[in-house]
Amino acid sequence: MPSIVLLGTGNVATHLFHAFQKAKDVEIAQVYGRRKKGLKHFQALARITNDTSQILDADIYILAISDTSITEVSQSLRSKKGLVVHTSGSVALDAIATARRGVFYPLQTFTKGKKVDFSEVPLCIEARNPDDFILLKTLGTSISKKVHQISSLQRKKVHLSAVLVNNFTNHLFHLAQEICVENNIPFDLLHPLISETVHKIRHLPPVDAQTGPARRQDAETMQLHLEQFENPLHKKIYQLLSESIKTTYEKEL
Ligand SMILES: NC(=O)c1ccc[n+]([C@@H]2O[C@H](COP(=O)([O-])OP(=O)(O)OC[C@H]3O[C@@H](n4cnc5c(N)ncnc54)[C@H](OP(=O)(O)O)[C@@H]3O)[C@@H](O)[C@H]2O)c1
Repeated sequence: MPSIVLLGTGNVATHLFHAFQKAKDVEIAQVYGRRKKGLKHFQALARITNDTSQILDADIYILAISDTSITEVSQSLRSKKGLVVHTSGSVALDAIATARRGVFYPLQTFTKGKKVDFSEVPLCIEARNPDDFILLKTLGTSISKKVHQISSLQRKKVHLSAVLVNNFTNHLFHLAQEICVENNIPFDLLHPLISETVHKIRHLPPVDAQTGPARRQDAETMQLHLEQFENPLHKKIYQLLSESIKTTYEKEL
């Protein structure tokens, strides 16, 4: 049974903690957080410390901490024999300062207080040596049905794709909600459309699923839409996305 020390008390650390708590064959040896306040949530559930010199020995150390602090905190684990992994989509494997290093990147969006079924979360794993890869795979399969070997280069591309499909799409939801609120329209009127857009691409490639005025090159409708934007930045977003859609489909018309 692998033992783990979880470093961090934020969104990912909290979700991972509860997933590992449910796993039968993983022992959570300790949770490290730099502030006592952050550790409060864990104190009745596990051993805790806010002092890096008090970190216990374990098979795996999971750095679920801000991207910019990964190198610094991993340096405090240099004397440890276990495998050290981070959970970031964009930080290089070699940002970790220890000899045994790896990546345990959960490809999902996590916020404290919003439950996530971890068994459905894809885990992108990578390790510097083959034995550590096997160890990480064992750890991953204890909480998820979807464990994938993803290289650092692939992870960079996965992270870029994730920003497009999650962060940018969510920002568009926000802009749409603002338009609805300003015009006394309940935003949930759009929920079925949002759900259908997302579900459709499970059955159709996105390139075939595209609809709307830009694909049809309906200049009149696009002009009407553009006239309704007050914020020039939002207007620009509409123009740029329409341009990209038009270029994708111009040969078919
Ligand atoms: N959130 C997501 O959806 C998501 C998804 C996949 C992967 N990730 C990755 O998972 C990692 C953690 O993200 P998160 O969303 O959980 O971040 P978060 O909620 O902002 O939590 C960050 C944690 O890092 C700690 N920390 C920051 N600097 C530190 C330092 N110098 N020493 C010790 N601890 C430090 C923070 O402590 P304090 O509370 O004391 O500041 C906090 O516990 C990141 O690498 C992120 O890229 C995030």
